[in-house]
Amino acid sequence: ALVSLRQLLDHAAEHDYGLPAFNINNMEQIRAIMLAADACDSPVILQASAGARKYTGEAFLRHMVEAAVETWPHIPVVLHQDHGASPAVCQRSIRSGFTSVMMDGSLGEDMKTPASFEYNVRVTRQVVEMAHPVGVSVEGELGCLGSLETGQAGEEDGSGAEGTLDHDQLLTDPDQAADFVAATGVDALAIAIGTSHGAYKFSRRPTGDILAIDRIRQIHARLPNTHLVMHGSSSVPQEWLDIIREHGGEIKETYGVPVEEIQKGIRYGVRKINIDTDIRLAMTGAVRRLLSQKPDEFDPRKFFAAALTAASDLCRDRFVAFGSAGQA
Ligand code: G3H
Ligand code: 13P
Ligand code: ZN
Repeated sequence: ALVSLRQLLDHAAEHDYGLPAFNINNMEQIRAIMLAADACDSPVILQASAGARKYTGEAFLRHMVEAAVETWPHIPVVLHQDHGASPAVCQRSIRSGFTSVMMDGSLGEDMKTPASFEYNVRVTRQVVEMAHPVGVSVEGELGCLGSLETGQAGEEDGSGAEGTLDHDQLLTDPDQAADFVAATGVDALAIAIGTSHGAYKFSRRPTGDILAIDRIRQIHARLPNTHLVMHGSSSVPQEWLDIIREHGGEIKETYGVPVEEIQKGIRYGVRKINIDTDIRLAMTGAVRRLLSQKPDEFDPRKFFAAALTAASDLCRDRFVAFGSAGQA
């Protein structure tokens, strides 16, 4: 059944686990996530970005998620809007049947310019006021995602802040977080701790100076009852990078957020962990490998099935590692 994010995260907090929130763009990704959840009995958060809605079309997205709920009626599913750029975007998603929306007021409506605290509070509060009366949850974000190594938002395809960010924009301030939650009434708060979107997060295996897990502990101490969200939390598996490179792909040396660091975050109050890139890497690696091993193959079902299996295995690993397996 479709449930709200608040329902799932309250249960996760009560039972000390975290939930991966996987980005969806097509049928194979939705089926991969659902098959993994069914196999290990985990609740599910499916999240769709503006780019996903553009790629898939609003009706296709809605009906595919309805099909998932119909196929696996015993699995609780949240349909969450990732990185809403404005209250109007959130309103459209609520009308479309999303049970949770993210108002990302850390950036202006262009999703590039860091916004003021006052702007962020205003737009986020506005979304809470329209979402809560209809049972929809709201995630806000305070602080800007970006690298503590370079000050850059990361993603090369343009999602995230433009230009160089200051150190204090890259780390959410615990006192300001407490003020933000009190002023907005959000159900969940995305925080900045040095992660960024996409495959190029860290130039080396991250240590505490570039991945500030301890900051989560400090924020949690101020906000023990707020569900914290980690964005940019793909682990960027070296195995998949190797497979992609072995089969003609070109991906530079890069490191993601180790699963063990996410597990520490979960101990400090992280309940939602956003993952998109890892599924992209696994699907790309599986397709490249299959097509290079079977150069005569031209039935798309063959390489889409390989991609689906790779994505599903990855999802199952995260459900188990974050402790949501067995909690559906
Ligand atoms: O916010 C970043 C997510 O990975 C979604 O990416 O905007 O390319 O769909 P996207
Ligand atoms: P990754 O790029 O690390 O998978 O992060 C996804 C994300 O934060 C979506 O909101
Ligand atoms: Zn994100």
